[in-house]
Amino acid sequence: MADLSSRYLGLALKNPLVASASPLSRDLDSARRLEDAGAAALVMYSLFEEDLLAEERQFERFMHHQALGHGEASSFLPPQPEFQSSLDQYLEQLQSLKARLDIPVIASLNGVSEEGWTGYGRDLQDAGADALEVNVYYVAADPEESAADVERRYLDVMAHLEEAVSIPVAVKLSPQFSSPLHFTRHLYLAGADAVVIFNRFYQSDIDLETLAVEPQLKLSDPYEALLRVRWAAILRGALEIDIAVTGGFHKTEDVIKALLVGGNAVQLCSVLLQQGPEAIQRMLTGLDRWLDEREYESVGQMQGSLSHRNAADPAAFERESYRAVLDSFTPPAGVRY
Ligand SMILES: Cc1cc2nc3c(=O)[nH]c(=O)nc-3n(C[C@H](O)[C@H](O)[C@H](O)COP(=O)(O)O)c2cc1C
Repeated sequence: MADLSSRYLGLALKNPLVASASPLSRDLDSARRLEDAGAAALVMYSLFEEDLLAEERQFERFMHHQALGHGEASSFLPPQPEFQSSLDQYLEQLQSLKARLDIPVIASLNGVSEEGWTGYGRDLQDAGADALEVNVYYVAADPEESAADVERRYLDVMAHLEEAVSIPVAVKLSPQFSSPLHFTRHLYLAGADAVVIFNRFYQSDIDLETLAVEPQLKLSDPYEALLRVRWAAILRGALEIDIAVTGGFHKTEDVIKALLVGGNAVQLCSVLLQQGPEAIQRMLTGLDRWLDEREYESVGQMQGSLSHRNAADPAAFERESYRAVLDSFTPPAGVRY
């Protein structure tokens, strides 16, 4: 059996397969099944800024009523010692996961504002998180906001966290940056230990009966993995930062491609929701078989051998491949133009 270990975020992983942020980490038994199936680390579902802000506002309203001193106010809104904020619940779940699992647990923060992260980051670190993943899921829909402004948002979040925590931090990125290498280099300089590429944006659909715009949760398709593989290759060729890929990894073959181009970790979500945690075991068996057939002794031996810098034909990751792909089109059988 080949040595499947990999390093990611300063953590020694027994293999490169990580369970990515998903509802599976809300349940201790499901999390345990992920570990038993071979997951090398677990990213928790996110702690959402929206929830924290809503609770803060509720608390402020409550304090305001108390301060007004209406005779009835305190009976309408009595203090509730048993009330658990989303932060409290999250920290409790993090501690339970840490107690139940042997693998590293990565906490996840999800929000778009530039402030507030310092305190939450420190709380997660104190509760035992082995690392943090930050997801700035931001849809840039303001014509006054420049690309540099959007990047600044991420860089500020990273700078706040860098000050607050000593555990490693990964930033989960969207695929929609004009110059991903330049931006990632600046994230690295701001203290990011890894990038997670790429967030999937869920698409809103239009119901043609009601004309309502409805967000749709659609699980990923394996074709999406190729975008991640390509950018992992380009990033690895230029920067030392750790790389985890997420989005479309359903097949062992695509996991192998991500490792060949230099990924440190492959995060899995849709495949686990569709097939259950045991999909990890199948992928690990496939990875081990592939390494064995090619006489690799370890994942480390092949990791990065096809990055943009090392590939025999680096242009295949760039524009040069575009013309060739267009020229390769042949009409499907039976279709005439
Ligand atoms: C039901 C569901 C819940 C998710 N929850 C989170 C979350 O809380 N935080 C986060 O950063 N990503 C979340 N994701 C995104 C996944 O972690 C992952 O990055 C994405 O689904 C792409 O990977 P996949 O193709 O393997 O599904 C969620 C995805 C799904 C389908």
